[in-house]
Amino acid sequence: MPRVIYNTATTLNGFLADEDDSLSWLFVVPGADAAENDFSNFLAGIGALVMGSTTYEWILEHEDLSEHPERWFYRDAASFVFSSRPLPEVPGADIRFREGDVAAIWGELVEAAGARDIWLVGGGDLVGQFADAGHLDEIRVSVAPVTLESGRPLLPRRLESDRLELASVRKSGQFAELVFAVRHPSGG
Ligand SMILES: NC(=O)c1ccc[n+]([C@@H]2O[C@H](COP(=O)([O-])OP(=O)(O)OC[C@H]3O[C@@H](n4cnc5c(N)ncnc54)[C@H](OP(=O)(O)O)[C@@H]3O)[C@@H](O)[C@H]2O)c1
Repeated sequence: MPRVIYNTATTLNGFLADEDDSLSWLFVVPGADAAENDFSNFLAGIGALVMGSTTYEWILEHEDLSEHPERWFYRDAASFVFSSRPLPEVPGADIRFREGDVAAIWGELVEAAGARDIWLVGGGDLVGQFADAGHLDEIRVSVAPVTLESGRPLLPRRLESDRLELASVRKSGQFAELVFAVRHPSGG
């Protein structure tokens, strides 16, 4: 069974993006390049990824994918985008638009991942939906030396220490990489 991993950068106070969905605070952190290399290794082990529509639209715009579809990073994996709206496609990319209960696509997601893992890209509430459904195994956060007044939340769910176990801590440039194993409510 593939493992489901939420891997993201976050501010020290738990935001994925500011209230305008900007990541400008992230790209100026010293050591962001080294983190990119670590990220390529991580991506090699991923067979399917999942994101919400705000994240997808951010990538479309940031990479100018309507003009440059070849810039879609995740050619080697199926991408599941959750939205209740029709969204632009990226020619040549395996992008599957889905909506509603995340548990309903679990079988399809596992099949797409094959022998590799599933990456939950974000946002936080969508990851929370996977946690609610018992489909979240690991949280890997790269904590940036940044705080913001407000923004998009990392994981707006109550998961206490009976559910989260700190597995490792590592310094990568100016980021603190924290890995937590997630225990399922049943104890699994
Ligand atoms: N720091 C990082 O490394 C990092 C990582 C990931 C994301 N980000 C950024 O963080 C922000 C996250 O945005 P966000 O909090 O709005 O989250 P998001 O998950 O990207 O988008 C949320 C939207 O996805 C759709 N959605 C979610 N669950 C759904 C479901 N079960 N069925 C149908 N549609 C569903 C809904 O929109 P509609 O139905 O209206 O389409 C919802 O409003 C973005 O700006 C992103 O670029 C940063």
